[in-house]
Amino acid sequence: MVAETTLSPADFIAPLFITEGMGVKEEIASMKGYYRMSIDNAILEVEELWSLGIKCVLLFIKCSDELKDNKGTEALNPIGLMQRSIRAIKNALPEMVVMTDVALDPFSIYGHDGIVEGNEIVNDATVETLAQMSVSHAQAGADFVAPSDMMDGRIKAIRDALENNGYTKTGIMAYSAKYASCFYGPFRDALDSAPGFGDKKTYQMDYANRREAVKETLMDVEEGADIVMVKPAMAYLDIIREVKDSVAVPVSAYHVSGEYAMIKAAAQMGWLDENKAILESLTSIKRAGADLIATYFAKDAAKLLLNK
Ligand code: PBG
Repeated sequence: MVAETTLSPADFIAPLFITEGMGVKEEIASMKGYYRMSIDNAILEVEELWSLGIKCVLLFIKCSDELKDNKGTEALNPIGLMQRSIRAIKNALPEMVVMTDVALDPFSIYGHDGIVEGNEIVNDATVETLAQMSVSHAQAGADFVAPSDMMDGRIKAIRDALENNGYTKTGIMAYSAKYASCFYGPFRDALDSAPGFGDKKTYQMDYANRREAVKETLMDVEEGADIVMVKPAMAYLDIIREVKDSVAVPVSAYHVSGEYAMIKAAAQMGWLDENKAILESLTSIKRAGADLIATYFAKDAAKLLLNK
C-alpha cells in the first residue's frame, strides 16, 4: 500500500539480437540465457513478449564479416538484415513498438561507432551516415530510431532527415548520457563488435562526470529527442535522477549486458537469488527516475511480475 515504486511489463524495452539464417537460436557465451536469433525465431520471441505485456523491442543485428567496411555501407542497404527484421516484426505484430539501433559499430571493420580516418573517429561524416541510416529504418517501418553512437549533433541531423523524407511520426530515443563503460563487454561478444583499436572515450562520456550528462541530455532534447537515455544503469543511478529532474521528456535507462552477466554469473554460482536480484535491480532503476528500462531481463521480469 505504501510502495512508492511499482514495476510493470510495459516499463521494459526488450533488446533483440538478430542474425542471418532460419531456425537459428545461438546462446551468447557471456550472456547465459540470452540468444542471437534469426528473423523467424525473433518473431516468435516478439509474440511471446507481447503476450507478457511488453510493448517495445530494440533491435540490434549481427552483420556478417564480409559486409563490414569503414563507412557502414551495409547499414544503408534497403534489404539489409536490420531493414528486413523491422519489416518482418512490424508485419507480424504491427502494435509492437519497434526501436532500432543506430550506430556504425556492428557494420564497422574497426568496431567503432563512426567512420575512422587515421586514428580518429570523425564526427560530421558519421552524422551524415547516421541520418541516412535512420531514414532507411523509418522507411522499413521503425517506430523509433535509437542512436547509440554519441556523435555530436546527430539528433538534429536525424530529425531533419526524417522530416525531409516525410517521416514526421518516427520518434528518436537518444542515448544522451552514454558512458565509456566496461559493462558493455558481453554485448560486444554478442555482435562481434569490439573496437579493433583504441577505445570509445573520444565519443562516449567519462564516468567521472555528472554535470556533463545533464549538458549532453539537454542538447539532445533541444535537437529533437523524444526520449532520452542514461547508460549503463546501476552504476549510474545518480545520473538517472539528475537527468530525470532536468528534462520533461521520458527518461529511459539501459541495464546493460555486463549488468545482466554479473547477476547471471553470481546466480549460477549460487551466490545470489536471481529472481530477487532482477526485481531489486529493476525497481531501483525505476526508483532513480527511469520511465523505461531497456533490459535483457525484460521477459524474466515480466513473468515474475505476472507470476507466470
Ligand atoms: C554500440 C552499442 C553498445 C551497446 C549498445 N549499443 C556497445 C558500445 O557502445 O560499445 C551496449 C549494450 C549493452 O552492453 O548491453 N553502439
